[in-house]
Amino acid sequence: MPQKVRGVVARSKGAPVSLETIIVPDPGPGEAVVQVQACGVCHTDLHYREGGINDEFPFLLGHEAAGIVESVGDGVTEVAPGDFVILNWRAVDGTCRACRRGEPWYCFSTHNASQKMTLESGEELTPALGIGAFIEKTLVHAGQCTKVNPAVKPEAAGLLGCGVMAGICAAINTGKVRRGDSIAVIGCGGVGNAAIAGAYLAGATTIIGIDVDDRKLQWAKEFGATHTINSREQDPVEGVQALTDGNGANVVVDAVGRPETFKQAFYARDLAGTVVLVGVPTPDLTIDLPLIDVFGRGGATKSSWYGDCLPSRDFPMLVDLHLQGRLPLDKFVSETIGLEDVEAAFEKMHKGEVLRSVVVL
Ligand SMILES: NC(=O)c1ccc[n+]([C@@H]2O[C@H](COP(=O)([O-])OP(=O)(O)OC[C@H]3O[C@@H](n4cnc5c(N)ncnc54)[C@H](O)[C@@H]3O)[C@@H](O)[C@H]2O)c1
Ligand SMILES: [Zn+2]
Ligand SMILES: [Zn+2]
Repeated sequence: MPQKVRGVVARSKGAPVSLETIIVPDPGPGEAVVQVQACGVCHTDLHYREGGINDEFPFLLGHEAAGIVESVGDGVTEVAPGDFVILNWRAVDGTCRACRRGEPWYCFSTHNASQKMTLESGEELTPALGIGAFIEKTLVHAGQCTKVNPAVKPEAAGLLGCGVMAGICAAINTGKVRRGDSIAVIGCGGVGNAAIAGAYLAGATTIIGIDVDDRKLQWAKEFGATHTINSREQDPVEGVQALTDGNGANVVVDAVGRPETFKQAFYARDLAGTVVLVGVPTPDLTIDLPLIDVFGRGGATKSSWYGDCLPSRDFPMLVDLHLQGRLPLDKFVSETIGLEDVEAAFEKMHKGEVLRSVVVL
């Protein structure tokens, strides 16, 4: 029997989100219904509401979640009712051209549920990142459920489902930060501070947090930043060079995603270093760089989708590191809130008051 539950919907561009009754179908073949326990508020949810991702309103927001599998459809073997899982937006198909090349973290045809959740009117919802988890129960593809050690708190674990994963592995997987490296991270929100935590885990010895907000820089220090720069007060390129013998950092992560921050990242890295763009630009933004500098500075400019992660490999590993006391996932949780508080959480995010507000159900 389809279930009626409460969920957070963005009905139109820029309009405040609303709490709606949503119809969740029983899981079909390959699908699972998950009872959501916690879901973080990511900047990407706000991008959806602002129409910055696409126009497929109404959106069911929320995508950084953990919960318990309630029921599964025919043919599902990887998870069973009662399993504690983190939801992922990279359920690899194993057969696309990226998977066939042995690079499943780029999978170009990831699985999502085939049935739709709807409003009571029957109008179909577009779930954010194919998940939609500001809701009591959600319908996903079973491959989107990654089992992890249930000893972890759901509100900390869920953050690995998007922003914290994206940040940690933008440093470790995409930037390939190694022991002894220098790294600078521009934008120390949830994603940027996770990149700092990732660089710390990987053994980087110079870790520079850059933001326009001193509160974020204070948090950056708690995640392992050895130095911080407020880029309203100091030129970040000169600042990074001064901290790296005049050379620039081996890796610079842009966790904001604007032309000015990308340029700062491009010029703050050492020759032959790596720039990693993890912040998501809006479609109107363009960049103008001297081509001679693109050539002459060498190295790599990469973008990082979800930290080039493989959920089945990386989620359990990062949960284990957290449970061993080596990854302070709980420090990303600034506050826990209810489903009715998501709009207020966007406001707090906008004002820079939180790293992550997490809806707890
Ligand atoms: N690539 C991915 O897979 C992926 C995954 C999750 C989120 N994201 C994106 O990452 C970005 C960051 O997300 P978040 O949740 O951490 O957001 P957030 O709002 O928590 O953090 C953004 C930070 O950037 C800072 N900032 C803003 N403008 C700046 C500037 N000009 N210079 C320096 N700092 C500046 C803010 O003060 C804030 O601390 C967003 O664009 C989000 O959509 C990408
Ligand atoms: Zn694939
Ligand atoms: Zn996200």
